[in-house]
Amino acid sequence: MTVPIAIIGAGIAGLSVAQALQKAGQSVHLFDKGHGSGGRMASKRSEAGALDLGAQYFTARDRRFVEQVQHWVAAGWAEQWKPQLYNYRDGELTPSPDEQTRWVGVPRMSAITRGLLKDVTVNFGCRIAEVFRGKQYWHLQDTEGCSHGPYSRVVIAVPAPQATPLLASTPKLAAVAAGVQMEPVWAVALAFQTPLDTPMQGCFVQDKPLDWLARNRSKPGRDEQLDTWVLHATSDWSRQHIDLTKEQVIEQLWGEFAELVGCVVPAPTFALAHRWLYARPSSNHEWGALADADQGLYACGDWCLSGRVEGAWLSGQEAARRLLEHME
Ligand code: FAD
Ligand code: NAI
Repeated sequence: MTVPIAIIGAGIAGLSVAQALQKAGQSVHLFDKGHGSGGRMASKRSEAGALDLGAQYFTARDRRFVEQVQHWVAAGWAEQWKPQLYNYRDGELTPSPDEQTRWVGVPRMSAITRGLLKDVTVNFGCRIAEVFRGKQYWHLQDTEGCSHGPYSRVVIAVPAPQATPLLASTPKLAAVAAGVQMEPVWAVALAFQTPLDTPMQGCFVQDKPLDWLARNRSKPGRDEQLDTWVLHATSDWSRQHIDLTKEQVIEQLWGEFAELVGCVVPAPTFALAHRWLYARPSSNHEWGALADADQGLYACGDWCLSGRVEGAWLSGQEAARRLLEHME
């Protein structure tokens, strides 16, 4: 019997590990507390269509990721998004075009992780509470008290604060993860019956509670009837307003949006808010991934490199590389 490798987290980092290990002939078993894949790259289904509330788009700078994105494009999971970009600074809204290539999942951001799930065994709705080693193999205990295993190795691909308790059997790695701070972000989606009278499709905002605005349906492959917008607050504002109700957050960020977008903004026909507690690491790191190769315990995720889709994917590749290297 081959003993599989467990991966905790079906975000882009966990799926990157899964893909690399499967390619090398290993059998993997994923767990995610959510009901679908994607984590911070997921899309929220709503009455206004699927909305990208987390990652908005991604860029590819590392050669390996550039190649990977080409595969996603060929598979029909990703396309280029060429938004009419603006910049808001000192009370002024100005067009801010650039040459950067930006990618999105189609028809929604979660299409990429959904595509990567093919042929992978996943337990959704399963939150792992403990990772422990028996005489020879690893076992996982979920919050319902069920145990899963045996596994030859375990890869933890969740945000650092959630990884810390799962790394308890290797205190050195747990201490590294515990030292990583992650910042919250409040996200709000608004949908309007009548399209707003602005050519804007994306906007970087400075010195305001808002950090970013995007016209969700301007992304390729979306077929929403309503004019949908996604607003992200800054981490500072989000931290200071972390305990507001969703209604209060919608009210305040809608007000901010109306003030800066430069056209009349009626009451939205639909609105929702989502609080990302661990949206982004407060700084970049150069670890690639964390490993206790002798024990067979690994950790990866955006927090091991940079708080971007590319950083998370590369971190997953690095965890898989180190794991496979130790098997030789
Ligand atoms: P995650 O996506 O967080 O995946 C971790 C998974 O682990 C989740 O699915 C979670 O449910 C699961 N999990 C956690 N704990 C447990 C447990 N105990 N048991 C089981 N499962 C567990 N990046 C960009 O490149 N461009 C952007 O425009 C961009 N915008 C962003 C905007 C926002 C609001 C946010 C939140 C992020 C944004 N990012 C952006 C960052 C990008 O989304 C992340 O860097 C990337 O998706 C992280 O992937 P990951 O796999 O490391 O972690
Ligand atoms: P990128 O190169 O498009 O953007 C990087 C940064 O450069 C932007 O945040 C913005 O400040 C600036 N910038 C880029 N183009 C601009 C333009 N045309 N006009 C004015 N400013 C411009 O993409 P990259 O490096 O891949 O970063 C991804 C994006 O993800 C960033 O916008 C980043 O802020 C965002 N992000 C958001 C998170 C959140 O929780 N809200 C978490 C992680 C990343």
